[in-house]
Amino acid sequence: MDNQFFNKYGPWAIVTGASSGIGVEFAHQLAAKGLNLILVARRKNLLEEVSSDLIAKYNIECKILEADLTVDGFFNEVLLASNGLDVGLLVNNAGMNCEGDFYRGSLDRNLNMIQLNVKAPFVLAYEYGKQFSKKGKGGIIFTSSISGFNAHPYLSHYAATKAYILSLAESMNYEFKDKNIDVLALCPGMTKSEMTKGLKEGPMLMAAAPVVKAALDNLGKKAYEVPGWINKAQVFLNTRILNRNGARNLSGAILKKFLPGVNRKKKNS
Ligand SMILES: NC(=O)c1ccc[n+]([C@@H]2O[C@H](COP(=O)([O-])OP(=O)(O)OC[C@H]3O[C@@H](n4cnc5c(N)ncnc54)[C@H](OP(=O)(O)O)[C@@H]3O)[C@@H](O)[C@H]2O)c1
Repeated sequence: MDNQFFNKYGPWAIVTGASSGIGVEFAHQLAAKGLNLILVARRKNLLEEVSSDLIAKYNIECKILEADLTVDGFFNEVLLASNGLDVGLLVNNAGMNCEGDFYRGSLDRNLNMIQLNVKAPFVLAYEYGKQFSKKGKGGIIFTSSISGFNAHPYLSHYAATKAYILSLAESMNYEFKDKNIDVLALCPGMTKSEMTKGLKEGPMLMAAAPVVKAALDNLGKKAYEVPGWINKAQVFLNTRILNRNGARNLSGAILKKFLPGVNRKKKNS
């Protein structure tokens, strides 16, 4: 239990993308602080497992919502699930990627990514931000990415969605301070989750626990948080040492060499 955190952001929090990876870790660390949770994702069986685990471990209340955030009307489902509950924290974490050559992902997949990574977090932040404004307190966390700080060829559209989220969170952080609402963009680098399944463990691949801890420790203190010193060094290089073109070229060269889904035989024009 963390009384200070609970009083500011409790008693209920919504976590999207809570069926795996970083979202499950958010759910555990928030439950450890005493918050009751509404867990949102598509895979009901996984949400049920996470929920039972949380209730047993932390003695909190937990609701699950099986919802596809790319489907129009998702907001009504979330609203219904939170009806009558005093929500004080929104964790906009659900996300998907589209990596490799620009045309590797279909147009439909790319449009779904805009719905999930951009539209859904915006709608939820807009609506719950309104509720928090009326109450005069609350918090919103967006899971962005270090790829949001500069252009990333071969991850171009995903990075663009994360740049949107980072910019939105930073601006909201400034505007919402006056309303006693804390807004933070969490900007992880590579983190162990389903999204990075198959990648080799090593210093470049962080566990989800310290990533989430960094977000919760810095909510109310910063507008964005980059967890881990390697990620911090990367952002420092790309934003403070290199210019925008240099950062794009370096990111592109690295991703072209190492990212799956890149046709390395093609000439880069
Ligand atoms: N892992 C990394 O290296 C990394 C780095 C930077 C940023 N991030 C960001 O971190 C966030 C969490 O990702 P993760 O790494 O934990 O990956 P993950 O394990 O794949 O988790 C993604 C979560 O989003 C949910 N989700 C996906 N599509 C959805 C949809 N249409 N409707 C509702 N929920 C949906 C998934 O649940 P269902 O499939 O059950 O719906 C899952 O719970 C994402 O925003 C991602 O962009 C990850």
